Amino acid sequence: MPLLNILLYPDPRLHKIAKPVTVFDARLKKLIKDMADTLYDAPGVGLAASQVDVHEQLVVIDTSDTQDDLQVFINPEILWASSETKLYDEGCLSVPGVYDGVERPAQIKVRALDADGKAFEVSADGLLAVCIQHEMDHLKGKVFVEYLSPLKRNRIKARMLKEERQQRRG
Ligand code: NI
Repeated sequence: MPLLNILLYPDPRLHKIAKPVTVFDARLKKLIKDMADTLYDAPGVGLAASQVDVHEQLVVIDTSDTQDDLQVFINPEILWASSETKLYDEGCLSVPGVYDGVERPAQIKVRALDADGKAFEVSADGLLAVCIQHEMDHLKGKVFVEYLSPLKRNRIKARMLKEERQQRRG
């Protein structure tokens, strides 16, 4: 079970637009397994394929405390979003150590395909709703820090680049 390398903001590959998944084969199942292993190892609550440099519309989420409730969303679309919004402190495996408030619809209804290509719909609120919307943004090439003010975003970018340089120096 190889762990996948997670791209770190501001890596330009995080801004690629993901294409729909069209083939539901063993390669896809292996990618899902590797993404789940990577998510649990991190640990995090959600991971989009874009974050591991695979630009296909695939997201894995597990909001449980016990890492035994993996949810897979392939080619997800939002069918409905509430006008009521909620501010939630978000974090991201591509922007480690950064948490900040993002306002999003509090409830959503989503349609997606499972690992076998079968369609399903789910209504979500709370953390799951936040997580689905955050991960779907990744598929559109959007990282949550882009919701923050330019000042905050530039500060985060500068810090991430500095840490990267320090790590490279060893
Ligand atoms: Ni993220």
